[in-house]
Amino acid sequence: MQRLYRKRIVLGVGGGIAAYKSAELVRRLRDHGAEVRVVMTQGGREFITPLTLQALSGHPVHLDLLDPAAEAAMGHIELARWADLVLIAPATADLMARLAQGVANDLLTTVVLATNAPVALAPAMNQAMWADPATQANREQLLARGIRLFGPGSGSQACGDIGMGRMLEAEELARAAADCFETGMLTGRHLLITAGPTQENIDPVRYITNHSSGKMGFALAEAAAEAGARVTLVTGPVFLPTPDRVQRIDVVSARDMLAACEAAMPCDILIAAAAVADYRPEVVAPHKLKKDPSTGDGLLLQMVRNPDILATLAGRADRPFCVGFAAETENLLEYAVRKLRDKNLDLIVANDVANPSIGFNSEDNAVSVIDRQQHETRFGQASKGHIARALVAFIAERYKES
Ligand code: PMT
Repeated sequence: MQRLYRKRIVLGVGGGIAAYKSAELVRRLRDHGAEVRVVMTQGGREFITPLTLQALSGHPVHLDLLDPAAEAAMGHIELARWADLVLIAPATADLMARLAQGVANDLLTTVVLATNAPVALAPAMNQAMWADPATQANREQLLARGIRLFGPGSGSQACGDIGMGRMLEAEELARAAADCFETGMLTGRHLLITAGPTQENIDPVRYITNHSSGKMGFALAEAAAEAGARVTLVTGPVFLPTPDRVQRIDVVSARDMLAACEAAMPCDILIAAAAVADYRPEVVAPHKLKKDPSTGDGLLLQMVRNPDILATLAGRADRPFCVGFAAETENLLEYAVRKLRDKNLDLIVANDVANPSIGFNSEDNAVSVIDRQQHETRFGQASKGHIARALVAFIAERYKES
């Protein structure tokens, strides 16, 4: 199993002798399935060349904040948004001090301030520098802000000293990075997640569908599995690989999706991210429809309502904790609240699909979650993987309180 499969890691390389281990770290992260983008400080470049890390990561290394060409390709904000994890290895005493103070005077420290992703540091420095009260105070401050520290380890150091301050080995760091995604918040819970579009047949060769790619629902399934849940993912037709440890059930129409969901019950939490067709043709023609001169240029299709999967499951005696999605192009919050009430939900995730950079078939999303008291919690624009992990953590909290 690749524990970092498709995870996007920004690896920051600071200026310490342990930077030589960063080359091996890039390889280990990639062996575990991660995509890696490297950001180097000026000091880091004194110890290892960007070319080495470019060759190992498969991408140009990001060096300068004030480089118009680099900013035009993938600037500091894009890098910050792209990341699922920012890992800084080696993190020198100077980098720790700057990060503790919120200084943003180079590309790496700016990315750390701009990201919503978790940040982890692998400290590496002389044992006396590590033990210094200033470094220890910085360490406390960073931990208090939720920044994780991997190590340091203890042992003989490049300078000849023996003590705390050695950077952990590459494989240990790669494993610690993978652990960041395994929260265990939903251990022992069964989650049922719907994803993708449905297809409603008109005749044997035509159907009605929508633009859902399934990316949001699949990201939620992956995040829920990482949180320790048993996950059943019922999906309409999409072209996505099945996340690890997820039981996938492929369906075509809304009625198939309802049947598959009912068969998968009971569950503790239902997350309905699928874009289900509200209507289907009343009659599916047994043969391909031909152009009919008697109807002129028009074709009239009689449509009937599909069952509402979410409302049906929310109405059962063994009702799970129910989370819906509302994809809207106008009056987002008003319509979302209406759906929360009408479908008897615990939470609804409002998704503004009028903005093409988020919502249907995009890599990113930005959503608001609304509860029964109409409190709104916003999740700003980030990759669907990142939004999914934040949503799963939020849903797990609310589920526990319910
Ligand atoms: O798949 P992606 O390309 O990543 O895009 C993600 C998304 C935009 C599809 C997703 O985030 C999203 O917003 N999904 C809900 C889309 C939608 O059509 O919502 P709705 O407003 O029609 O339905 C409201 C809720 O009821 C949804 O949870 C839906 O799954 C559910 N529903 C709707 C109709 C129906 N017959 N049965 C249902 O269960």
